[in-house]
Formats: sequence, structure tokens, C-alpha cells
Amino acid sequence: MTRQFFVGGNFKMNPATLEQKKGLVSLLNEAKLDPSTEVVIAPPFLYLIPLVESIRKDIKVAAQNCYLKNVGAFTGEVSPAMLHDAQVPYVILGHSERRTLFHETSELVALKTQAAIDAGLSVILCVGETLQERESNRTVEVVNEQLDAVIAVLKESDWSKVVIAYEPVWAIGTGKVATSAQAQEIHAEIRKYLTQKVSPTVADGTRIIYGGSVNAGNCKELATQPDIDGFLVGGASLKPEFVDIVNAKA
Ligand code: G3P
Repeated sequence: MTRQFFVGGNFKMNPATLEQKKGLVSLLNEAKLDPSTEVVIAPPFLYLIPLVESIRKDIKVAAQNCYLKNVGAFTGEVSPAMLHDAQVPYVILGHSERRTLFHETSELVALKTQAAIDAGLSVILCVGETLQERESNRTVEVVNEQLDAVIAVLKESDWSKVVIAYEPVWAIGTGKVATSAQAQEIHAEIRKYLTQKVSPTVADGTRIIYGGSVNAGNCKELATQPDIDGFLVGGASLKPEFVDIVNAKA
């Protein structure tokens, strides 16, 4: 099965000003993008609705998080139903910064994933190991445990709404990108685990994208790997080189 190449831009808590955000939108609206690549950009919550209204229609918008309930007394939270109502089709869940800084467990990420899909959203589900876990040869064990929580709650049909982002924590924001061999090894392990625990059809159809210090200089080599179906880009998504990453397969 051919899987559509997918490139997401995770702005995190950037850009700092509305003016900078407008500059990014202009750059992307005028860019020549590979039409065979699915492109999704994830700004901070505050910019979601203006971005839906101003970005070209072949670029989708994602939230960087959401809660697991759709309405109620949950101060500070944003619900999946609200995102769907605002015509935001994607949400990133389980990002390592949510797991480490905000203490989100794999079980919470799984409940959020189910709630997002039930609300009509698609999910970019982040998994990945820390440097300590990699150095103690626990990468596959850790990633499989993160997947287990989601596998336990989703129906097989839900997986068509999931893009898995393998983001080794030690590569995020460090400039230390995983080698193609390192990334391909874990992507293949994830696909194998999906075959074993969900189904061969889901394993074959699910995009598994790589995140962690992706830039215009390393994206083409990474994109040649059979189980790397795209990227989730942080720092470089705020720069003109994001266009080159979108066009990595062109
Ligand atoms: O979600 C993508 C992000 O974690 C990767 O960050 O800056 O290493 O591309 P960066």
C-alpha cells in the first residue's frame, strides 16, 4: 500500500508575535509545495482560528493538544469538539514535552486520542524514548509501552485517523538528528508491533513519521527510508526551509 507522505510543522509556543505569524502564513501561502504531500501546521491555540481563515486550503491546521472531555468545568483546557467546531482537523497528542513537562501518562494520552477521534479529529500521536532509555537499550520496549495504552482503547477502524510520530527525545531541539538507520529501525519496529497487536492492514496503512532536528539538509536522506512516511518538524517549521522539508520527496 502506498502511504501519502505527511509533513507536520509543530510551532510549539512560537512565533512570539502576531506579526511573525502573519509572515509565516504569507511565506507558506506563496510557496510551491509538492501536491502529493499532506501538510499540517500546528500553531499555539490562540492562532488556530485566524490560521484556518488565512492559510491556503491545501494546508491543514492542527492543535498541539486537547483535553479528553468535550465540555465542562476544566479550566484552561480546550476540547476536541471545540477544535472540530473550529474546523481544525488534526491534533498532536502525547508530545514528549506534554509527557515530561506536564506529566501526561500514556493512559491519559490514550483517552485523549479516543476522545479526539470520537469528536471527528485525526491525531498525530507522538512516541519516543529518552537518551537514558536508549542508552539502556529500552527504546523498543518504551515505544511499545506508549503504543500499548492506545492500542488498548482504539477500535481497528480508529487507526485510519492516526499518524504516529516517532520522536526520540534526545533528538528534539538538540540538532542531533537520528541517523536514517536509527530512525528506520524504530519505524520498522513500530510497524511490526502494529501488525502483531492490531492488524497487518493497519500496520501497512498507518503513516509513521519522524521528528527530532529535521531540517532541509537531512530530510531527503531520511525520506528515502521505507518506513519513514514523513516528518514532524519543530524549529525548522518556523523557517523558509520548512518548504524544502515538505518537498523532500519531490
Ligand atoms: O514535534 C516536533 C518537535 O518535537 C521536533 O522539534 O525542533 O527538533 O524539529 P525539532
